[in-house]
Amino acid sequence: MFWPGLIAQYRRWLPIEPDDTVVTLQEGNTPLIPARRLARLAGLEGVPGLDRLYLKYEGANPTGSFKDRGMTVAVSKAVSSGARTVICASTGNTSASAAAYAAAAGIEAVVVLPDGAVARGKLAQALVFGARLLPIQGNFDQALAIVRDLAAQHPDIALVNSVNPLRLEGQKTIAFEIVEQLAAMGEAPPAVVALPVGNAGNITAAWMGFRLWHEAGLLDALPRMVGVQAEGAAPLVHGRPVDRPETVASAIRIGQPASAEGARRAVSESGGRFLAVSDDEILAAQGLIARATGVFCEPASAASVAGILKLAAAGQLEPLLRAGEPGGSGNWSDGARSGRDGPAGGPIVCVLTGNGLKDTDAVMAGERARPASVGATVGSAAPGTPGGGPPEALPADRERIAEALLGRR
Ligand SMILES: Cc1ncc(COP(=O)(O)O)c(C=O)c1O
Repeated sequence: MFWPGLIAQYRRWLPIEPDDTVVTLQEGNTPLIPARRLARLAGLEGVPGLDRLYLKYEGANPTGSFKDRGMTVAVSKAVSSGARTVICASTGNTSASAAAYAAAAGIEAVVVLPDGAVARGKLAQALVFGARLLPIQGNFDQALAIVRDLAAQHPDIALVNSVNPLRLEGQKTIAFEIVEQLAAMGEAPPAVVALPVGNAGNITAAWMGFRLWHEAGLLDALPRMVGVQAEGAAPLVHGRPVDRPETVASAIRIGQPASAEGARRAVSESGGRFLAVSDDEILAAQGLIARATGVFCEPASAASVAGILKLAAAGQLEPLLRAGEPGGSGNWSDGARSGRDGPAGGPIVCVLTGNGLKDTDAVMAGERARPASVGATVGSAAPGTPGGGPPEALPADRERIAEALLGRR
């Protein structure tokens, strides 16, 4: 079936005028995949809620991440307002997406990146789409401050980071798709939606989308929003900026989230919570997702699943699934809850924000060989699983291959 892209599909919910130019790569309509074997592989079979876990695979977008949802709207509006250049700071995926949509529109993209801290696949994307790359000796937060300044001084250059509200407008469509796809599968609306959080635009946008449809009467109950950060880059968990964020999940290596306020609102209004996961837990979750479902996501994306598994292992998932009860994180806000009915016994949805093919270094370097430790039970499931980098080459000899094959049984 032909899918025309987000703007055509959800135009009435988006700030697009009739004479705006639409720049689309037919983004959106990404798979919502049931992860039935994940709980068992994680050693958490029988934990309530995990039997109805879905993965929203944003890696299936044209440039391999959820950024395309926001970029179709931001670049369409930029082109419609006469901009010939878009600029962004990026941990990688924004630059890939901005570069692709600029190429599709026939305009220039300039990207400011933390030098040496962007996954190679993402750099390759920005290069092949013809973007101008400006690596800096600094981190993402510094890069963002620079492009914000530049865009403020040059009104003809459109800033396409998620501080541009048009990006969030596009990204909110993920909520519409989750609601529609679950309904099409005979499921209730989601009880819990978990996302990795870096600059915090995406969780802010998803919550906007759920609220919009709730207010429009298209969604009976709002989900609880769970924001997952990496331990070394967890300003929203700890309630203060992190000067030198560190994590293997480079896409969420951010110490001062620009949309922190929106993320806090999403979590407190929904009765959800923030939590942090370690790099080991992230990499273990990435492997579990791949082996349990056949989906290869990048490390940052796996944080959403690592977070849900960690809550499950600690017995903290169930309270989030119960209607009318606190999320248990101290983020609960009774005032903000007014008007919501609580989750309606629906499933859990983890957003897998980006494609694993963008960042293969961790897998190829054998990171997966390290013992995994997503809670005691998950860790016990991981040893002995495949991984640990590519195996040594064998001679092209039938007997040696047979020996290697049968010897493993
Ligand atoms: C793959 C991936 N996941 C998660 C995030 C975090 O999204 P946000 O910065 O909107 O919180 C990013 C941001 O770059 C990303 O690229």
